Amino acid sequence: MPKILVTGANGQLGNEIKVRTSDYKNFDFIFTDVGELDITKFSDIKKFYSENKFEGIINCAAYTNVDKAENDTINAQNINTNAVKNLAKISGQYQLPFIHISTDYVFDGESHIPYTEDAETHPQSVYGITKLKGEEFAKNAYKYFIIRTSWLYSSFGQNFVKTMLRLGKEKDEINVVSDQIGSPTYAADLALAVLEITLQTFKIPENNLSGIYHFSNEGSCSWAEFANEIMNVANLNCKINQVPSEAFPTIAKRPKYSLLDKSKIKEIFGIKVPFWKDSLKKCLLKMNENN
Ligand SMILES: NC(=O)c1ccc[n+]([C@@H]2O[C@H](COP(=O)([O-])OP(=O)(O)OC[C@H]3O[C@@H](n4cnc5c(N)ncnc54)[C@H](OP(=O)(O)O)[C@@H]3O)[C@@H](O)[C@H]2O)c1
Repeated sequence: MPKILVTGANGQLGNEIKVRTSDYKNFDFIFTDVGELDITKFSDIKKFYSENKFEGIINCAAYTNVDKAENDTINAQNINTNAVKNLAKISGQYQLPFIHISTDYVFDGESHIPYTEDAETHPQSVYGITKLKGEEFAKNAYKYFIIRTSWLYSSFGQNFVKTMLRLGKEKDEINVVSDQIGSPTYAADLALAVLEITLQTFKIPENNLSGIYHFSNEGSCSWAEFANEIMNVANLNCKINQVPSEAFPTIAKRPKYSLLDKSKIKEIFGIKVPFWKDSLKKCLLKMNENN
């Protein structure tokens, strides 16, 4: 039974992978977060390898606070870039397939058509720059699968959906940005894609499908439309006022357009991508069950 190391397992994606592993009983997953394994320290990874002899790596760890990263470059770089270099190095040394998650923020958002995997990158924030540098290091792994995703949410952790639910209960109306377009992604759907890639990689080891892949939910919306749908599904009577990005200045610059073309992951791995509104309903249902 191949042992797979999952790093950053206490985050949104890591937790969703934990939930799904019961369907992947042919693998033995070792879930770690910074407490068990700090991936910024190569000697710790090496020691962890010698004690656990894992055969593949799924890296869910990241510095994800996009605004904070602008003034905390060293930590963002350590986690989003240097730690990925460490994991790619151990992958290369012991021939371990490496699945790594990246972001739509590697693009500048000036496009008007969905970004393909080979579209030109041009990150606008420290977060985007450090994630793009991480991608470059990930390519040194034995086999690498870099999955770029966008607008991630889950019943675990903090995210836009949870913020909207809180505000929707507290206020009669709120202002939400309407000129940034993207695709919300339910981390549970991304978790399934990650596990499917893991399964197929170990099933046919002679195949090397290394590369960059895009995954988000199907369809697109603005943050305001996303907020509106959250209020509708959750039956909250809170009016969403559409405002331009300028009305909501943030420390880090965000891409105005971040649709990802998902043809490659669908074609190569046969992954089915649910529509964002359907996945949002599932997530809100799960949040209700948990309360
Ligand atoms: N969230 C989004 O909207 C979004 C959008 C596009 C792409 N992504 C990418 O998707 C992936 C998963 O994101 P997510 O939202 O699940 O992230 P998350 O919830 O922020 O989880 C990241 C986890 O990594 C841990 N971590 C931080 N430093 C570490 C270290 N040195 N060693 C080990 N673990 C460490 C964090 O611990 P602490 O909490 O203690 O720091 C946290 O538990 C990331 O690669 C992210 O860049 C996210």
